[in-house]
Amino acid sequence: MANAPKRPASSRAEKMIKVDHAGENGAVNIYRAQALVATLRCPRLKSQLKDFQSHEEEHRQIFATFLDQNGIRRCVSYHLTGIGGFALGLVTGLMGPPAIAATTYAVENVVLEHLEHQMAYLKDCSPDAHKAVSDIYQDEKDHHDHAKSQMQSEKLLSKILVLVIRGSTQAVIWFGMR
Ligand SMILES: [Fe+2]
Ligand SMILES: [Fe+2]
Repeated sequence: MANAPKRPASSRAEKMIKVDHAGENGAVNIYRAQALVATLRCPRLKSQLKDFQSHEEEHRQIFATFLDQNGIRRCVSYHLTGIGGFALGLVTGLMGPPAIAATTYAVENVVLEHLEHQMAYLKDCSPDAHKAVSDIYQDEKDHHDHAKSQMQSEKLLSKILVLVIRGSTQAVIWFGMR
C-alpha cells in the first residue's frame, strides 16, 4: 500500500499507533541531538545515546510499517514532534549528563504509562496494533530504568526538567489523539 492514497486514522487503535509513530520520531531526534552535542559536552555518553537513537529508529519503523500496511496517514504533528525533540535534545545535551538523564527519565516515564494503557486497550480489539506496542515495551523500560539510575533526582534542576518534559510529552500525546 506504499503508493496508494492514504486515509486518516479512524479508530482509537489506529490513532494510538499514529501517535506512537510521531512520538518515536520525537524520541529519535532527542537522542540524535544529544549524541551530537555529547561530542563537546560529555563524550563518554555518546555511544550510549547512539544506541538509544537506533532503538528509537527501530520503534519508529515498526509503527511506520503498521501505518503503511493499513494505508493510514501519519500524524499531522510528525515533523513538529521531530523538531521539538531535536530542540529539547540540543538544550538538555548542552546542559550535560544530569539533564540528559532527567530528560530520558521524564519522557520514558510518560511513555511507559501510555504504552501500558494502550496494551490493555488493544489486547482485545487489535492484535496487530497490540503486537507493535508490545514489541517496543522492553526497550522503553530499559531506557527508563537506566536513566532513573543515572538521574540526580534530588537536584532542583532535575525536578524542574522532569515536570516540564512530562507535561510536554503528555500534551503531545493528547494533541495527537484528538
Ligand atoms: Fe521508542
Ligand atoms: Fe525509548
